[in-house]
Amino acid sequence: MEKNIVLVGFMGSGKTSVGKKLSVDLKREFIDMDDFIVEKEGMSINEIFEKKGEAYFRGLEKELCQNFAEAKSKIIATGGGVIKNDTNVENLKKGGTVIYLKSTPKQIAFNLRFDNTRPLLAGDNKEEKIAKLMAEREPIYNKCADEIVDVSGLNVDETMDKIKTIMGIN
Ligand code: S3P
Repeated sequence: MEKNIVLVGFMGSGKTSVGKKLSVDLKREFIDMDDFIVEKEGMSINEIFEKKGEAYFRGLEKELCQNFAEAKSKIIATGGGVIKNDTNVENLKKGGTVIYLKSTPKQIAFNLRFDNTRPLLAGDNKEEKIAKLMAEREPIYNKCADEIVDVSGLNVDETMDKIKTIMGIN
């Protein structure tokens, strides 16, 4: 059994796309935390935030991270805010290697220019919101990461190859 590969990073940094591709390439199970939560709750992330509140959502994330401490051989795409909780990070690290997909506010704003599924970026001034949240989160991503992959200018395949190299997989 291999360690989990846990992708962390800001919304829109490519965790889901890269995770899916890795899971096919490595023939390992893929779990997208947001998708898992959406399915379990029968509501979109926007609806969960609106109807139940962010704290409720964070509780679901925490529960899921507890399960991952025992999991093996999975590819896990986390939600961008999962690392705000130290216990989550501890649990993710117990079962896996935490890889930070590092991007820039400019690139994120471009990737999410048509997106309206992220409640924390809803409304006007998306780019400002991204920059502010990124400034708060960047130190946490850097601190919790076992490995950092700068995804600027990389496509999904190139990012996947970097991760495979880091993990010693050919
Ligand atoms: C969030 C990121 C989102 C989702 C929720 C909150 C965050 O996941 O969990 O909207 O706090 O950064 P993605 O990083 O997959 O967009």
